[in-house]
Amino acid sequence: MAKAPPEIDRTVDSPTSSKAQRLKHHHQRALSSPLLISHVYSPKLSIFVLATCVVLFVLFHIQYSLQTPPSDPPSPSWSLMYQWQRVINTTIGTSSTELMCTNKLKSMANHLRQSVTFLPLKDLRYTQTALQGHTWFMSSMYDIHEEGEVQYQQFPSESSQGRLLCVKGRDKHDGSWNSYALAWPETLPFNATLMKGLTFVSYNHYNYDNIWHGLSAMVPFVAWHRNNGCAMPTRWVLYHWGELRLKMGLWLTTLMDATFGGQPYIEGFEEVGEDEPVCFEKSVVMRHNEGGMSRERRMEAYDLMRCKARVYCNVSMEGRGTEVNGRGVPVIGMTMFMRTGPRSFRNDTAVIGIFERECAKVDGCRLTVAYSNNLSVCEQVNLMSLTDILISPHGAQLTNMFLMDRNSSVMEFFPKGWLKLAGVGQYVYHWIASWSGMRHQGVWRDPNGEKCPYPEDDRRCMSIFKSGKIGYNETYFGEWARNVLNEVKTRKLEEQVNKNSSSSSASSTTSSTGCGCR
Ligand SMILES: *[C@@H]1O[C@H](CO)[C@@H](O)[C@H](O)[C@H]1NC(C)=O
Ligand SMILES: *[C@@H]1O[C@H](CO)[C@@H](O)[C@H](O)[C@H]1NC(C)=O
Ligand SMILES: *[C@@H]1O[C@H](CO)[C@@H](O)[C@H](O)[C@H]1NC(C)=O
Ligand SMILES: *[C@@H]1O[C@H](CO)[C@@H](O)[C@H](O)[C@H]1NC(C)=O
Ligand SMILES: *[C@@H]1O[C@H](CO)[C@@H](O)[C@H](O)[C@H]1NC(C)=O
Ligand SMILES: *[C@@H]1O[C@H](CO)[C@@H](O)[C@H](O)[C@H]1NC(C)=O
Ligand SMILES: *[C@@H]1O[C@H](CO)[C@@H](O)[C@H](O)[C@H]1NC(C)=O
Ligand SMILES: *[C@@H]1O[C@H](CO)[C@@H](O)[C@H](O)[C@H]1NC(C)=O
Repeated sequence: MAKAPPEIDRTVDSPTSSKAQRLKHHHQRALSSPLLISHVYSPKLSIFVLATCVVLFVLFHIQYSLQTPPSDPPSPSWSLMYQWQRVINTTIGTSSTELMCTNKLKSMANHLRQSVTFLPLKDLRYTQTALQGHTWFMSSMYDIHEEGEVQYQQFPSESSQGRLLCVKGRDKHDGSWNSYALAWPETLPFNATLMKGLTFVSYNHYNYDNIWHGLSAMVPFVAWHRNNGCAMPTRWVLYHWGELRLKMGLWLTTLMDATFGGQPYIEGFEEVGEDEPVCFEKSVVMRHNEGGMSRERRMEAYDLMRCKARVYCNVSMEGRGTEVNGRGVPVIGMTMFMRTGPRSFRNDTAVIGIFERECAKVDGCRLTVAYSNNLSVCEQVNLMSLTDILISPHGAQLTNMFLMDRNSSVMEFFPKGWLKLAGVGQYVYHWIASWSGMRHQGVWRDPNGEKCPYPEDDRRCMSIFKSGKIGYNETYFGEWARNVLNEVKTRKLEEQVNKNSSSSSASSTTSSTGCGCR
């Protein structure tokens, strides 16, 4: 299913071949810096030579611009390059001064190409603080960050002074063997491969197979995409601890396919020689997940993904909002999203029975029981679009919650022992609920479960509790379900009244604006 590799431009050439090409439209920059250096050697001669260069160039530039018919140049930069080459060709051999001028420019360009310095992608000095800001990835670079917006790096940009991002980044085992550098497009490092188009470079502290960690790494790209006229990436470069990764899990791949309108092409640098650099024509680097984004910006990113996923899976955009049963009462979709194995319910039948009973008491309530392990991605998208109340144990399948309509509810369950030892990771589904505009209705923690032979707060207990199963408390589950059902019912009735009082055209606009870009 992999797409053909996007176009790349091999610019392998020896240090002495047509350097002048690289000077195309940046001749001014190239000319101003040598002055500083040449002072050291022979100031008068250098100034003379360079002044001659400028004059010659300007003269030829004018001459050839006038000669070039206005209709036929293929592109401004090409025609300028062509003229510049002719300047060089004409200059060579006509006088020794002009030859010196050309050589001077060539040697300057050579110096710039040689001065491109590669630093390790993974900076071992920051190993201890990797979780507090991921500073060990491209540690010398700063992010662009406006208040409430996504944090990112972009190349070329004003802050990179027009330089491109280059990497030697094919190592899959140790990120400190991979490296990065910045280089001007006219003076890329020797033997560099220029990769055309937009490249998304992702840093993920965890992995791209886990749907929660994978999604966290993708959200900032979705936000950037939304803020930049829905620009599509040509390729993705995925790193974990600075090590190259060649795939995302199926769920994430499908979601990115839907969001960006095409299967992500994941770069493996197979075409590139062992220690040869690759430079990206345009690249965007993300290493902070949603960090720094306001709740509003996060919700917009999740809205965009929900909307695109529904379109992709041919699921109705109306979601749960409008459906009523035979008596005109709004339907409430209550979904039990079950796990098998670790963190599943010890007795599914008993737990399902409790929610079935409560659901049956509420007019309009419809209970669905599904297993997360055997639904296709689009089946999950469809199921979530029919869900107002998601009932599920703590686990990656809960990441799907953002695919429900906004303001939908989540009820989460933990086995014994997760409180103290599980760390902040246990709150991730509270976070995603808040970020995607859902209502987290709390958790139930099983007081019973496997015994741990060590003291309760011993870290070794976590490995026992981690895969524990979840029991039930009939009284508690019943009461909890009644409360959540009541709240959802009240909200749905209010929404129905609002919908009836406003014109029908108003409701259709809300569903069509969701997928837009800024
Ligand atoms: C400049 O010279 C090179 C080789 O001498 C030639 O390949 C190229 O076509 C020339 N360019 C122009 C614009 O005359
Ligand atoms: C560029 O590649 C050629 C051929 O692979 C090699 O001989 C040369 O040393 C390389 N140049 C640099 C600067 O690495
Ligand atoms: C959605 O519908 C289109 C056209 O009817 C079809 O080509 C496509 O395969 C469908 N996609 C899915 C995921 O069912
Ligand atoms: C599960 O619960 C049901 C209903 O309470 C009960 O009939 C059944 O025996 C239980 N199964 C197991 C394996 O405990
Ligand atoms: C999905 O998995 C559950 C539990 O493993 C099983 O009971 C159910 O039959 C499966 N459904 C399908 C459609 O395979
Ligand atoms: C969600 O609920 C909030 C607060 O009740 C409300 O302001 C908002 O309009 C609702 N959003 C949607 C999409 O229904
Ligand atoms: C079950 O939940 C109820 C209500 O929260 C509580 O009073 C009771 O102690 C719980 N039972 C067990 C066995 O934990
Ligand atoms: C809203 O309108 C539908 C039909 O258009 C009607 O069946 C329903 O009773 C109305 N609901 C309320 C709360 O007015």
